[in-house]
Amino acid sequence: MKDAAPQTIYLKDYTPFGFIVDSVALTFRLHPTATRVLSTIRFRPNPDATDNRFFLHGEQLTLISAKINGTDVTTRTVEGGIEADVPNAPFTWEAEVEINPQANTALEGLYMSNGMYCTQCEAEGFRKITYYPDRPDVMSTFDLRIEADGDNTPVMLSNGNGAESGAGFANWTDPWPKPAYLFALVAGDLIAHEDSFTTMSGKPVKLAIWVRPGDEHKCAFGMEALKKSMTWDEEVYGREYDLDEFNIVAVDDFNMGAMENKGLNIFNSSCVLASPETATDGNFERIEAIIAHEYFHNWTGNRITCRDWFQLCLKEGLTVFRDAQFTADMRSEPVKRIDDVIALRARQFPEDQGPLSHPVRPESFQEINNFYTATVYEKGAEVIGMLKTLVGDEAYAKALDLYFDRHDGQACTIEDWIQVFEDSTGRDLSQFKLWYSQSGTPEVTVREEYEGDTFTLHLSQKSAPTPGQDQKAPQVIPVAVGLLNDNGDEVLPTQVLELTETEQSFTFPGHATRPIPSILRGFSAPVTLTHDIDNDRRAFLLAHDTDAFNRWEAGRDLARDSLLKAIQQGEAPSAAYLDGLKALLRDDSLDPAYRALMLGQPSQSELAATLHKMGETPDPAAIHAASEALREAKAQSFAELLPALYAANQVEGPYRPDAGPAGQRSLANAALSLLTRLDGGETAAKQFDAADNMTLQLSALGALLDAAKGEDALSAFYDQWQNDRLVIDKWFSMQIMQAKPENVATTAQAFTQHADFDWKNPNRFRAVMGVLAMHHAGFHFEDGAGYTLLADWLIKLDPVNPQTTARMCSAFQTWKRYDETRQGKIRTELERIAGQDGLSRDTTEMVTRILNA
Ligand code: BES
Ligand code: ZN
Repeated sequence: MKDAAPQTIYLKDYTPFGFIVDSVALTFRLHPTATRVLSTIRFRPNPDATDNRFFLHGEQLTLISAKINGTDVTTRTVEGGIEADVPNAPFTWEAEVEINPQANTALEGLYMSNGMYCTQCEAEGFRKITYYPDRPDVMSTFDLRIEADGDNTPVMLSNGNGAESGAGFANWTDPWPKPAYLFALVAGDLIAHEDSFTTMSGKPVKLAIWVRPGDEHKCAFGMEALKKSMTWDEEVYGREYDLDEFNIVAVDDFNMGAMENKGLNIFNSSCVLASPETATDGNFERIEAIIAHEYFHNWTGNRITCRDWFQLCLKEGLTVFRDAQFTADMRSEPVKRIDDVIALRARQFPEDQGPLSHPVRPESFQEINNFYTATVYEKGAEVIGMLKTLVGDEAYAKALDLYFDRHDGQACTIEDWIQVFEDSTGRDLSQFKLWYSQSGTPEVTVREEYEGDTFTLHLSQKSAPTPGQDQKAPQVIPVAVGLLNDNGDEVLPTQVLELTETEQSFTFPGHATRPIPSILRGFSAPVTLTHDIDNDRRAFLLAHDTDAFNRWEAGRDLARDSLLKAIQQGEAPSAAYLDGLKALLRDDSLDPAYRALMLGQPSQSELAATLHKMGETPDPAAIHAASEALREAKAQSFAELLPALYAANQVEGPYRPDAGPAGQRSLANAALSLLTRLDGGETAAKQFDAADNMTLQLSALGALLDAAKGEDALSAFYDQWQNDRLVIDKWFSMQIMQAKPENVATTAQAFTQHADFDWKNPNRFRAVMGVLAMHHAGFHFEDGAGYTLLADWLIKLDPVNPQTTARMCSAFQTWKRYDETRQGKIRTELERIAGQDGLSRDTTEMVTRILNA
């Protein structure tokens, strides 16, 4: 039988901790199976607290001794930790515990990865290291001593500045008060790629990226990204780094992408290591963004942290927004915006419109790890973007200065954040705050009217019920609008309409001829837009819109309409779409990266969501067939153009990962994938053989596999890269991605028997199971084999790594879209998972919420 239902934690129940921590000193005596952690913590009663119970979190710890003011103390074991009787005055707590890093496969707390010690403490991992008030509103300075057998662990790192070190020990001091979730320790045989940075006030900072021997050649790009991030945060936000050193460590076994521990960021090696031969342009761009993201947390997350985990978007939404601004500045603003909207629609919209829907600031949870979601992150960043749009750039900058001034060193709430904007702008933001508490994607509908010389836009909003929220109030929706004339000239530059009512009309007088509106420019709000316009209008906007985002969106709308008509009525691909797109591809004044995005089309999963919303039952096979047919039509209709496009976008000279050459490669590779349908893989084979970088090699491999001509390339690729874990992840993924729907589950199944399928490594597990779940037609293939295979492996992984298991359960979140047979098969699998003995709290919460759809 399963354990009793896990406990639910509520935002409304927040109370401060009964004690203040003045200092923490820790000694680690590292041992793979028996590490000792000695803690000396200075506590004093918190005058602002009402509950003075002395409770310390602790999980999977063996308590060796505990003392208060030097005297042994009796502790009481309670759910999730221990209690003790303490003096009503300042006191010193000393404890010694033993932990087993080697046995820690959950990768939370102190664990081992390839013989190296490392930690992951966010959100609640510190309690697996020692007894402590493991909550983000308890902040303290930390002093550290690490001791280990010097032969295996010559390098020993922690937060802050390195102090004394010698044979078998190293001391560290972190002068900035921090919550325990920002604690980090790394020890092992590591090599540094070093550099330095001088801050705006002239302070030198030692920089290092630490890697396992053999990975030294993959650090240079990450280091450049770090220095660019440091400069950018000084120039754009006025924020300077605050320690003498900044260290980054790459680890192979990591649940997430990376972690912003104070002064010691820890990265999944896939998110920091890159060389031209082994990493794609996409990897380089992502690495640059993640380095920036974690670095930016130093101010938005570390110096100003969260009061409790319900406020997670305070640091994550803001930091995602900041890293997006950084990428837009380093690369192309419209391309970054389009990429982000594609990701939002692929990840956040399904979440917000399904059983896992929750507010940007959730009001309850069972396992906080389940709330590091696309909604908290991506919608959380959209909310900041809307706030900036509404108050303007200058007011945004002023508010941020006030935020840093007022709250430095504090653990804050969304109320604090909003208050800063209200105080600095004088605006009432109470309605805006609904973006943090109401879940679901608002639907905005537009109707146009033209009378006399006045053009009117009638806007309305509604929001479908979501779990726990049947009725919704209208939200503040910034709708950026521009008007064009028949020639495509802008007759009204972009202005922001503030939709605050359920229905509202906006008039534009003085237009002698009927203007053509371009609505929701730059995707100014995370909503769906219904605007009944025909394909002539869309083709016009595709050709003429002066807003780069909406121009792309017009092409997207044409593609969607063409696909839906193919699925529903068997219609041939739309000529308006193909012709419009062709003209655009030929326009060499347009950024190649932008044209490459134009060549894309709505994903199959997005089409399934659209059909479901229209009240139909999506058929994954029909959606797949229509999507393939549209790609085939593009190949045929652009037959003359493709070789030229491919040739014109070959990049000469040594590989550079910058936006310019990367954009050219993305257009050339998009062309190649269509061209392969015409030349049977001749060009792709040549590219594969000649490739001197992973971007060209992998896209050629993908094209060849798509044409069923990839066998030789596949084994050559494996032989070349069998010793590079990150590249072998790509080797697995690409084969599943390019498999025909009927072969997806069998391909994935076969991989689980492969000698390299190291399923306890999250990257490898995701390379196979994550990609299986993302192959829409393959995962939803009618025999249900994909569902069973995924469920089998989630059941197997859960006792080993609950966090990664639970995250991957979201593959089933869209189940109610599909026909009864598929729903039945998925329900069977969800119930099978839910019925496992000892199922983790993480996975229990996820499958329960999904089943309650
Ligand atoms: N603080 C998170 C890492 C994290 C997430 C720790 C969940 C514990 C649980 C970090 O700042 C982060 O957000 N990382 C992202 C990448 C980022 C670029 C959005 C990640 O790991 O995916
Ligand atoms: Zn983050």
